[in-house]
Amino acid sequence: MSTITAIRPDVPQPPSAPRDLRKTGIDPNFWYPLARSKDVAKGKALGKTFAGEPIVLVRTKEGSVYALEDRCAHRQVPLHLGVVRGERIQCSYHCWTYDKSGACVNVPYLDKDQKLPNGVRSYPTREAYQLIWVFTGEPALVETVAFPEIPTFGTGEYKTRFLDRRINCHYSFMHENLMDMNHQFLHRSLMGSIRTTMLDLRGGDNWVEVDYTFSRAAGKQPLGERLMIGRGNAPKESEGKDLMTIRTEYPYQNLKFWTAGSQEPALDLWNFYVPVDKAQRINQTYGLINIRKPGIPGIIHLLWPFIVGFTNGIFAQDKTIVEAEQKAFDEQGADWNQEIFPIIQKLRLLLTQKGVPLEV
Ligand code: FES
Ligand SMILES: [Fe+2]
Repeated sequence: MSTITAIRPDVPQPPSAPRDLRKTGIDPNFWYPLARSKDVAKGKALGKTFAGEPIVLVRTKEGSVYALEDRCAHRQVPLHLGVVRGERIQCSYHCWTYDKSGACVNVPYLDKDQKLPNGVRSYPTREAYQLIWVFTGEPALVETVAFPEIPTFGTGEYKTRFLDRRINCHYSFMHENLMDMNHQFLHRSLMGSIRTTMLDLRGGDNWVEVDYTFSRAAGKQPLGERLMIGRGNAPKESEGKDLMTIRTEYPYQNLKFWTAGSQEPALDLWNFYVPVDKAQRINQTYGLINIRKPGIPGIIHLLWPFIVGFTNGIFAQDKTIVEAEQKAFDEQGADWNQEIFPIIQKLRLLLTQKGVPLEV
C-alpha cells in the first residue's frame, strides 16, 4: 500500500462530511445476514466474521440457530472447530461447553468447589429469507431498529435468485455502484447502448432514493434482460415509461423496476453488504433478486439458466470495477473522488453520517 495520505487539495470534499467515506465503518446496530440458511446444517457450526469480529453460527440438532462470539473463553480458539451436542457447543480443545446464551455450562475437569468460568458473548439471531441474520451491535438496541420487510419474497408470484459474493472493496463502493445508473456503459458488452434519464431524487433522515427511466440508444434488448424484466426500454418520453427506483435505507439497498403500465415490480432486488474484515475493505454481498414470474406456469424454470447467466455477467463486471476503485483508493491513501451526480453526493453524505469511526 502507498504511504501517500494527504487529501489532494484540488479535489473538493463534501462540506459537511465528517470523515473520509472509505474510512467509515458500517453501523453495527442493525441486523446483518452472515450466511445462507443452507450453509449451516443441523448439528453443525460455521465461523464467520463481521468487521473482523469472529462469530460462530450454531444450528442445533432440532434446527434452530444461534450466534456466539467465535472465541472460547478458555484459550480463545474458535468455537466453530468444536462439536455441536444437542443445544450446546463444545470447544474442540478441552471441551468447555456453552449454551445458546453464551454461558459456560460445563467444564469436564472442574473441581467440585470451583465456580464455572465466564462464558462468551451471544448475539440476537433470526432466520428469514433463507438467510441467517445477526444483530451485531449493542444487544439493548435490538428493538430500536426495523428488520427488512421484503413482501415479494416467497409469495409464489416471484422467484428469487440468491447472490452471495465476496467483493474486495469497502461497502460504500457497492451502494454507489448500484445507485448510479450512469454506469450502464460498463455493461455495454452485455446490455448494448442504453440512455439513462434521472427523473427524481428524494431523501430523508436515514434514506435516499432516485428514479430513472431508460431508453435504448442503439441495438436490441438482450435476451437475458428481456427474460428478467420483460420487454423494457419503453421509448416514449410522455407516457408508458419504465421506472426504476433505487433506495438506500441505511444500511440496506433496494432496486425496484416496473415495466410501463404494470402495478407490481418486474424486479425487486435487495442487497445487503456485510463488512468482513476490520478495515472494512472486504464485503460479503448477499443479494435477493426477486423476479416476477411470467403468466405461463412453470416457464420461469425454463428461462432461469438465461437469467442466471445474465445476472452473473453483470455482477462480474460490477465486481471488477468496484475492486479497481478500492485498489486505487489503497494506492492513494485517501478518497480523491470528484462526484458530480447529485444523488451520489447525497448517498455519500448519508453513508458517512450514519457510519461509525473505524479503529484501524
Ligand atoms: S480452549 Fe476451549 S476449552 Fe480450552
Ligand atoms: Fe452495474
